[in-house]
Parts: sequence; C-alpha cells; structure tokens
Amino acid sequence: MNWDDTTDADAAERLVDSVADREDQAVEAALRPKDLGEFIGQEKVREQLDLVLRAARARGATADHVLLSGAPGLGKTTLSMIIAAEMGAPIRITSGPAIQHAGDLAAILSSLQEGEVLFLDEIHRMSRPAEEMLYMAMEDFRVDVIVGKGPGATAIPLELPPFTLVGATTRAGLLPPPLRDRFGFTAHMEFYEPAELERVIHRSADLLEVEIEPDGAAEIAGRSRGTPRIANRLLRRVRDYAQVKADGLITRDIAAAALAVYEVDARGLDRLDRGVLEALLKLFGGGPVGLSTLAVAVGEERETVEEVAEPFLVREGLLARTPRGRVATPAAWAHLGLTPPRSQTTGNGQQDLFGA
Ligand SMILES: Nc1ncnc2c1ncn2[C@@H]1O[C@H](COP(=O)(O)OP(=O)(O)OP(=O)(O)O)[C@@H](O)[C@H]1O
Ligand SMILES: [Mg+2]
Repeated sequence: MNWDDTTDADAAERLVDSVADREDQAVEAALRPKDLGEFIGQEKVREQLDLVLRAARARGATADHVLLSGAPGLGKTTLSMIIAAEMGAPIRITSGPAIQHAGDLAAILSSLQEGEVLFLDEIHRMSRPAEEMLYMAMEDFRVDVIVGKGPGATAIPLELPPFTLVGATTRAGLLPPPLRDRFGFTAHMEFYEPAELERVIHRSADLLEVEIEPDGAAEIAGRSRGTPRIANRLLRRVRDYAQVKADGLITRDIAAAALAVYEVDARGLDRLDRGVLEALLKLFGGGPVGLSTLAVAVGEERETVEEVAEPFLVREGLLARTPRGRVATPAAWAHLGLTPPRSQTTGNGQQDLFGA
C-alpha cells in the first residue's frame, strides 16, 4: 500500500527522518497495531476516541468524522485503520494529492458503502473545488454533480450513505476553518515519551522475532526522536548489527555500538544535526549567527539547515531562532561536551555581521 508520496531521495538517506522511506512502507503494515488496545501511548487521544467509537456503536450509528493531526510517523495512518477495525467497517484509502478534480472525489464518495471509513491522507493538499464538495458531503451526506456546461449546466443532487471521514494532516494550520469545523473530533498526536517508545520497540521486536533486552530497547528509544516510525527503523538497523557482529541478542552495548556506526547519537541527532550544532558552537561561539552563514559553514543549503536540521534541534532545546540569528543553548554545549565562552551566558556578547 503506497499512497504516500511524501518520500523523496533526501529523506530516504537519513536514518532519523520521520517520513517513511520505501523499506518503512514495506514493513510497516506488519508492525501496525490492529486495535485501540494495542495502540501504545497517546493516552488522551485513545481515551477520547474510544468514547466516540463506543458511543457510535451503541447507537448503531456511523462514527463522527475524525481529524488526525501530528508530525510524520506518529501513527495517523495506523489510527485510521484502527477506527475502521473498531467500527467493523471497511476502509477506503486515498490522499489529498490524489484528488485533483472534484469529480475524482465525487466518484469515490458515490461508491462508498454505508458506514464505510474514508481515509483522506494529507487532506491539506486537496484541491479547492474538491474541498468545497467535501464540505457538503461531510455535513449533509450529499454532493451536487454538475452536468453540462455554461448557462445550461444543472446540479444534480446525489444522496450519499452515511460514512466516516478520517482526515490526516501534518499541517493542521493549513486547513481552512470551514473544513476543520466539520470534524466532530480532532485528535492531536504528540511526540512519544521514551518509555512509550520502549514498549513500541518491544512489541515490534516480538513481531520481528528479535531478542532484545530492556536496556537495549531503552537505548534505541532514547535515540528515536519521540517517533515510533524512527524507533522501528532504528530497531531494524540494530537487529542487522546484532546478527552480523554478535549472536543476535540486542543489549544496550550492541544498540549503542550499532547506532554509533550509523552516526545516530544518544539524543537521536545524526551527522547533519551535529554538524550544524558543532559549527554554531565551534566557529561562531554559540551565535547569534545568521542562517545563511551557518549553512555555508556546514556546506549545506539554507533550506536543509532550516527545514531538515533545525526543527528537531529547536524542539530538543539545543538551538534557538532569534531575530539576531541562531543561538546555541547551554544544553547544546553540554551535549557536545564543550564549555561555553563567558559571553554566551549573557546572551548578547557577539555581533552577527551577516544578518539572519
Ligand atoms: N501508538 C503506536 N503504537 C505502536 N506502533 C505505532 C504507534 N504509532 C505508530 N506506530 C508505528 O509507526 C509506524 C508509522 O505509523 P503511521 O504510518 O501510522 O504514521 P503516520 O502518522 O501515518 O505517518 P505519516 O504522516 O508519514 O503518514 C507504523 O508502522 C506503526 O507500526
Ligand atoms: Mg500516514
């Protein structure tokens, strides 16, 4: 099942990228939890969704439309399949970019069965006309099919069976409010705690028939950037290492040694992240330094630094974006085992000559 077109060559090269690569797509189906009970973490979302689905089942009704928002790899596709499974309903899978014309959407909607779950991935990338058709379909279970052209065109209303739309987006902010408002329930997926990722890793190890010690799982979890997809990917690489270099059992030492080979450090930073941080600390005394200057220093494009490396560094509290440029935090110095110059602690010791 490959309905996700977000994979690109750059993403596939990074072991810590949260976007699915080809291998992920091939193996993820086998690792997906099948019901809410198996779904790890996201306590709030799970509890709320459980209520929504139970109530609908008790009423013998179709569940309200659900919007799932959150970063890549946190379990949106997985949850959509769980919603269908919990409702005992079939699921139809499509995505925003696959719906170019309103007619594409009309064709899908008019072929739905009663109670079916329609999973619309990357819903923020749907075309405008399709979006408007979706408003009416969600609210009134009706679409207007336009027949003919010009002044003679007529709208033929078409009744739809009740269905549940499950929309997924990594960019909830890009959804127009009228669309957002038509969902009965919105689930915001958060990054996972290390303890939750440990459980994900143990579960996946069982399914992959890999032997792993609790310390080994903890070591991988700490490097997984709060993301189950990354945890599963690191587990597979560590498994390879354990098979080739040891007897297959994943211990803490084996996990650490394997991930050192792949240059994923104890906090989940990879070579690019560390390169940015090291340049900021060693060449610019911790900043502030402009983005362009920093990018030249690490030999990367501005966009790569800004969009690929920085979001995680900012989230981890290692780097701050300020109006005067990029600044390292005390945690960054500690992480790389370096001592900040005294001016760093006052925060305004240096001049940024190059602008942000
Ligand atoms: N709560 C969870 N418990 C166990 N495994 C999980 C959980 N969430 C996600 N996973 C695993 O992580 C992988 C990625 O999840 P999924 O494909 O659902 O993410 P996504 O949010 O749809 O990502 P994208 O935005 O890239 O589409 C799946 O293979 C699944 O096995
Ligand atoms: Mg998905």
